[in-house]
Amino acid sequence: MTVAAWVAEPDQQVPDDVARLLATVPEWFGQPGSNAEYIAAARCKETWTVRDADGLVVGVTLIDRHFPHVTEVHLTVVDRAVHGSGVGTAMLRAIESDAVHRGVRLLEVKTLGASHPDAGYARTRHFYEKRGFLALEETDLWGGDTPCLIMVKPLGESGVASH
Ligand SMILES: CC(C)(COP(=O)(O)OP(=O)(O)OC[C@H]1O[C@@H](n2cnc3c(N)ncnc32)[C@H](O)[C@@H]1OP(=O)(O)O)[C@@H](O)C(=O)NCCC(=O)NCCS
Repeated sequence: MTVAAWVAEPDQQVPDDVARLLATVPEWFGQPGSNAEYIAAARCKETWTVRDADGLVVGVTLIDRHFPHVTEVHLTVVDRAVHGSGVGTAMLRAIESDAVHRGVRLLEVKTLGASHPDAGYARTRHFYEKRGFLALEETDLWGGDTPCLIMVKPLGESGVASH
């Protein structure tokens, strides 16, 4: 499946699918308490999905809108079976395009910082960097053992995504 083949769209809330997808990637989402919070968030937050040809959800992104000029990716998770096939990119592209239309100026995401040695999250940071996100600040928002990297992507002033 090529990048262009996946279509990401706003969807209904899909907490059961979020639980299923989180369970495919325990190296990234292995803490039951955090997963329960994500599943609870999936019951109410704005939701974008990619579905396969049978309608099965293979990727989910949950969105926060703190201010009119900011869109935050609260959670992105892709079924491990289709990692690397463009599902995550399709979701970010669609969310960026929607953000530009809304006049949003910054995309934000929080992820595990590089001062933690986890190799999986190094790939995750690479994914965001490839999509034009810049590291803004590493904080102890999640506690001392879990460095939280805040990343942002500026969107063009002219209303065109800058990347
Ligand atoms: C990170 C994630 C959302 C990316 O979605 P994806 O559909 O696998 O990625 P895409 O196919 O659109 O993009 C591929 C790029 O992302 C990178 N990437 C990051 N994590 C990857 C993974 N687990 N598997 C494959 N590629 C990954 C690839 O290196 C590739 O870049 P490259 O072409 O320069 O090598 C997805 O892999 C995932 O759910 N990972 C586990 C959970 C996670 O990290 N969530 C985000 C927490 S903040």
